[in-house]
Amino acid sequence: MILVTGGAGFIGANFVLDWIAHEGTPVVNLDKLTYAGNPANLASLQNDARHIFVKGDINDRALVADLLKKHQPHAIVHFAAESHVDRSINGPGEFVQTNVVGTFSLLEETRAYWSGLGDAEKAGFRFLHVSTDEVYGSLGSNDPAFSETTAYAPNSPYAASKAGSDHLVRAYHHTYGLPVITTNCSNNYGPLQFPEKLIPLMILNALAGKPLPVYGDGRNVRDWLYVGDHCAGIRAALARGKPGETYNIGGNSEKTNLEVVHAVCAILDELRPNSLITHYSSLITYVKDRPGHDWRYAIDAGKIRRELGWEPQERFDSGLRKTVEWYLAHPEWVDSVQTGEYRKWVDANYAKR
Ligand code: NAD
Ligand code: DAU
Repeated sequence: MILVTGGAGFIGANFVLDWIAHEGTPVVNLDKLTYAGNPANLASLQNDARHIFVKGDINDRALVADLLKKHQPHAIVHFAAESHVDRSINGPGEFVQTNVVGTFSLLEETRAYWSGLGDAEKAGFRFLHVSTDEVYGSLGSNDPAFSETTAYAPNSPYAASKAGSDHLVRAYHHTYGLPVITTNCSNNYGPLQFPEKLIPLMILNALAGKPLPVYGDGRNVRDWLYVGDHCAGIRAALARGKPGETYNIGGNSEKTNLEVVHAVCAILDELRPNSLITHYSSLITYVKDRPGHDWRYAIDAGKIRRELGWEPQERFDSGLRKTVEWYLAHPEWVDSVQTGEYRKWVDANYAKR
């Protein structure tokens, strides 16, 4: 039995599905179901006894204590977070509450549970904290990629809240001996991603014939990681990672935002031609930049490759094609997430740009 937090969100849901397909052991999934959490992501597990869904907050310590006592997990995989940089700029409070205070609450209850285990169970237990490359700040065009020893320099409220959580996780190992592992990964993409993030936003705006809003000059660089590769990296870290260590997980696919948007448009031109729009790229619209916009992220994934034998399997062009195909094949999912709350966010974020 493992306990997953935030398993109804984009990466968490992909991970729960991947875990049940590869490991086949039960998962308790604790998720608050914020705007980003969607039970439909796990509809295929509805009648599967190996998936136990619990709606709740990681800050609800009594609930977390109960779940640990009842299910006796041998590992916790912690995804639950507020995850969108633009929302953290508009309202940082929730980010501190969930990412910092929530991680603290979870660590405290985990420490209490873990302290009561027998020696063998204690040694085998893992708390895997899923974090981000944004804690390292921003790279110049010619800087070497982020490694596990790069100094922390978070720039957005989101990145600062994740950095705070990483420090707490580290301290619980150093001070109490809790067997923690932290993974810091680059930008994920793939099925089930909420359309506030670059790739699904561009796919859905293009299909609706709406402008494709590129921040600044579109030359910022991200290192794209297919979500299935990320899930495999987390499984490798859980199985073979060393407690107290951190592992960077990256896709080895650096692209400018404009390259990404043009690639999405080219796939849509082929798969969903529109007689009214000769090329979807004609919808590209440059808009006001994100405040404090990090210039470049890139991950050096050498440590996880050397020590755990993991490397990404998906190439960006094939992963992006699969992703576009998934959105085209799931119009009901798309309709269900583009609700009133989503439209409110789109108005709040894009009206003033
Ligand atoms: P997401 O926003 O899609 O999902 C987050 C999930 O957490 C949602 O299901 C939400 O309901 C749940 N949640 C939020 N607050 C909660 C709370 N207080 N208690 C319980 N559940 C709560 O996020 P994602 O993109 O799937 O990211 C998952 C994790 O991976 C996050 O920790 C994020 O920081 C990290 N990460 C994401 C990326 C990326 O590209 N998406 C890259 C690096 C790291
Ligand atoms: O690097 C890992 C991080 O990647 C994760 O920790 C975050 O949870 C995840 O949201 C992501 O952060 P980014 O800010 O890089 O992702 P986002 O999809 O919001 O933006 C990607 C790039 O695209 C970024 O340079 C901003 C730009 N962008 C984004 C949006 C939403 C645009 O140009 N236009 C847009 O409308």
